[in-house]
Amino acid sequence: MPIHRRDTPTTARHTTREPGEREPPTSARDFLPARRTLPSLRRAAAECRGCPLWRNATQTVFGEGLAKARLMLVGEMPGDREDLAGRPFVGPAGKLLDDALEAAGIERGDVYVTNVVKHFKWVPRGKRRLHRTPDVAEIRACLPWLEAEIDVVKPYALVCLGATAAKALLGPGFRVLRDRGRFVDSPLAPRVSATVHPSALLRMRDRNERDEALERLITDLAAVKAELDKSA
Ligand code: URA
Ligand code: SF4
Repeated sequence: MPIHRRDTPTTARHTTREPGEREPPTSARDFLPARRTLPSLRRAAAECRGCPLWRNATQTVFGEGLAKARLMLVGEMPGDREDLAGRPFVGPAGKLLDDALEAAGIERGDVYVTNVVKHFKWVPRGKRRLHRTPDVAEIRACLPWLEAEIDVVKPYALVCLGATAAKALLGPGFRVLRDRGRFVDSPLAPRVSATVHPSALLRMRDRNERDEALERLITDLAAVKAELDKSA
């Protein structure tokens, strides 16, 4: 006995799927454009419904930078300020990142900056929106955008900022605190490394601890800069 009868009354038709009708989207893959350039990817990502995160976010925050950038930085997910601005790393973590890049001799204009997940995930806390770490299903759903960005930009060096990016791109066994700063073999780019996320520094209350962490972040970025200079 078939479950779906072909003569379903029209009033019920939108609640059942006809054979051959599209399944609901389960990943960003369903939204990727055929011809991939940064502008075409950005336009397509604005319409992405590949996971439920778009529902509570203001807009897609796509990566930013030149297609010819030789360095790509990958964060976790846009925060409150990025969600409102529609641009990655423009809030407090972005300011800290800018300072660290400058201290390492890297111009932000020479960098392509993006995130593993492109919509802000949050829960309300009073009037504030508190960041929630994206889960494995959301990361997997969103990864096609990042893969496409890497494919188009083809950076010489790629740096994961924090554990979410490092585990998504380098594998679940990667430990940022243990493995930070050194270059790992990866098909993603000739030079690939990971360092701490600037947000982790913002959470440190102790001034000395924070200053030391900033110095180490700058050291990790300076090592990348040295590799970029060597290959130029
Ligand atoms: N944290 C991130 O991981 N990405 C941003 O764009 C901002 C904060
Ligand atoms: Fe699409 Fe990523 Fe946004 Fe989910 S988080 S809707 S996969 S862009």
